[in-house]
Amino acid sequence: MLQQIQEASDYIKGKAPFTPRIGIILGTGLGQLVQKVEIEAAVSYEEIPHFPVSTVEGHSGKLIFGRLSGKPVVIMQGRFHYYEGYTMRQVTFPVRVLKQLGILKLFISNAAGALNPDHRLSELMLINDHIDLFPDNPLRGLNDEKLGPRFPDMFESYDSKLLKQAIYVADTLKIKLHQGVYAGVSGPNLETPAEYRYLRTIGADAVGMSTIPEVIVARHMKLPVLAVSVLTDLCMPGHLEPVSIEKVLAAAAAAEPNLTQLFTELVAQQTDIEA
Ligand code: HPA
Repeated sequence: MLQQIQEASDYIKGKAPFTPRIGIILGTGLGQLVQKVEIEAAVSYEEIPHFPVSTVEGHSGKLIFGRLSGKPVVIMQGRFHYYEGYTMRQVTFPVRVLKQLGILKLFISNAAGALNPDHRLSELMLINDHIDLFPDNPLRGLNDEKLGPRFPDMFESYDSKLLKQAIYVADTLKIKLHQGVYAGVSGPNLETPAEYRYLRTIGADAVGMSTIPEVIVARHMKLPVLAVSVLTDLCMPGHLEPVSIEKVLAAAAAAEPNLTQLFTELVAQQTDIEA
């Protein structure tokens, strides 16, 4: 795998105008941040050796290089989901490549169902821990010690300094920002009412079909992570109704200005990263 990571990253380096220091993965219906970026280059996933190709409609599948709040970032516009049929190694391959390109921090967004009764539609939740319910793990199989340890610890998977900064930024911007536990499931079906009750019972505040594989691989490589869920449907007793992708996208669109502002300001706060 090391060689594939190297080949992908060498190809991208040939097209990238600078070394990116922050990697950003944008979730379903959450592409607007790109408009805040002074774009200097875009590389389609199709061109990149060994990169999986996105199958979801409306995901354009590009790496975007540009400056956000003056800092050099690379944005994954379109991510790979396990439910699309990729292996866990394929789902997380881009995170390996971003690290190889030089990123020092990873910011992630996703759309998620809200399980906590305090949550309202289109609010944001900072992920401060997770419960992995995926049926497979990206680190299963031979471990390359050059990438990370056999048994990476997941003690502080979500970087405590980034969490504090996000809370501070949301406060100053007057953006409602919950904190909680994200449960990751394979999908693609949504959950039954009994499953939503179960997820709440085991301690989850939100549920979605992404993010955890990427976080595991990032932490395997000791990359600090910040992740935010956009709450796109209410999954608690009394609020349950059929979920459609249209409703999820509409709720994501309503939340997007806040997410965009939060990420933009949070990037600005990364004073250890040079412009
Ligand atoms: N369940 C799982 N994934 C999701 C949901 C949900 O309710 N909403 C958005 N992604």
